[in-house]
Amino acid sequence: MLTPDTPGPFVSPSPQYVPGEKPERHVADADLVWTADETAQIDVFRSQYPTPDGAVMKTLWLAQEKYGWLPPEVIRLVADTLGVPYAKVYGVATFYTQYFKEEKGRFVFDVCTCFSCQVCGGYDMLHYLKETLGVPKGGTTADGLFTVQEAECLGACGSAPMLQVTNGPYVHNLTRDKIDAMLDALRAGKELPFESVTLPQDQAELGGNRRTDAEAVETYQTPPVSKTIH
Ligand code: FES
Repeated sequence: MLTPDTPGPFVSPSPQYVPGEKPERHVADADLVWTADETAQIDVFRSQYPTPDGAVMKTLWLAQEKYGWLPPEVIRLVADTLGVPYAKVYGVATFYTQYFKEEKGRFVFDVCTCFSCQVCGGYDMLHYLKETLGVPKGGTTADGLFTVQEAECLGACGSAPMLQVTNGPYVHNLTRDKIDAMLDALRAGKELPFESVTLPQDQAELGGNRRTDAEAVETYQTPPVSKTIH
């Protein structure tokens, strides 16, 4: 007999992604079509691999750029376009966090809190961003502009702490001032006011993308959980 403390049957946290079920739809059928340019691009992807499933990742990427995220019907579109089983495309889309399975803000901040970034203040930066925008980790601002996420190592440990903007530019050597400048620029529809660099070598090459307060800022101060927003 089930009591309130007895675990019930397992319920999938994302039932809309169970192949075979009828998920809620987010994109109208009329919009589930490729343009001529996109079709030509997908043909190029196909030609680059011996079998069509080689083109799954690039076609999913194209779909995400077109629709902003990958609801089940878009995954189905990719599968049908390539003639690859839905389950296979679904498996790829759900394996990589860079593919968005839920709607995000226009700009998605992946703040690295892996080891190098963590010891250089990655959590300070994550919490500052959450508190500045008034959203929890994983949350999106009410205006739909910004989503804040925590990320594992993004391969730029030498310029920690850092974040990535919507699977694109890296912002290195983060400080609170740099985050403020980044938010102002993005809100104003401007380019980021610093270069995205991978391996900064010298001051001239950094183009302003250098932490200037490294000595003044105390790190290791902020624990993994914010005091104000969870
Ligand atoms: S630990 Fe942050 S980029 Fe590697």
